[in-house]
Amino acid sequence: MQRKKRTAILISGRGSNMRALIDAAKAAEFPAEIVLVFSNVEGAAGLDFARAQGIPTKVISHKVFASREEFDAAVDAALGAAHVELVCLAGYMRILSDGFARKWEGRMLNIHPSLLPAFPGTHVHEQVLAAGVTVSGCTVHFVVPELDAGPIIALAQVPVLGGDTPDTLAARVLEEEHKLYPAALRKLAEGKVVLRDGRAVTI
Ligand code: GRF
Repeated sequence: MQRKKRTAILISGRGSNMRALIDAAKAAEFPAEIVLVFSNVEGAAGLDFARAQGIPTKVISHKVFASREEFDAAVDAALGAAHVELVCLAGYMRILSDGFARKWEGRMLNIHPSLLPAFPGTHVHEQVLAAGVTVSGCTVHFVVPELDAGPIIALAQVPVLGGDTPDTLAARVLEEEHKLYPAALRKLAEGKVVLRDGRAVTI
């Protein structure tokens, strides 16, 4: 087997997708190992799980930096210090500077709880319910400077049901997220998907 790809997960909160990635990466044949969980929020709940698993964590608050670029430079330095090769954003609530996004282009993934390009941004499930669509889902995509706009690697669908609230829909989507994200990271780490000419190309 090839050497496992050194992977960091960036979180800001609960970290359930982080947990799914960490759990998947425990399998002997999984092609990525989680070497760092980074958060911009000291109290992010996901950090406790990562620490309990013995995974190195690093917290740097964006609040102490004068600009987005300076904060991202500190994040990038933390990734470099851990010899990170791949990055998974998992509920990471920071807009990235162009330079940081470009530096990691092709090596950084995000998960979003809608079928992109529909419903980017925040309050996604509220948007979906207000639009009255009958299908929603989640998307894993390569990160580019524009928010939620990168080339799509994988999607999973769920039905939107009559009595859904944002919470019930979020829970149904989240179950799919927890399967889709590890599968997408596996593909990237195995080199089975690459970013080429602005598209996610399956090899
Ligand atoms: C997920 O719904 C993810 O798609 C979105 O933010 C949420 C994070 O949840 N980007 P968690 O922190 O992974 O539990």
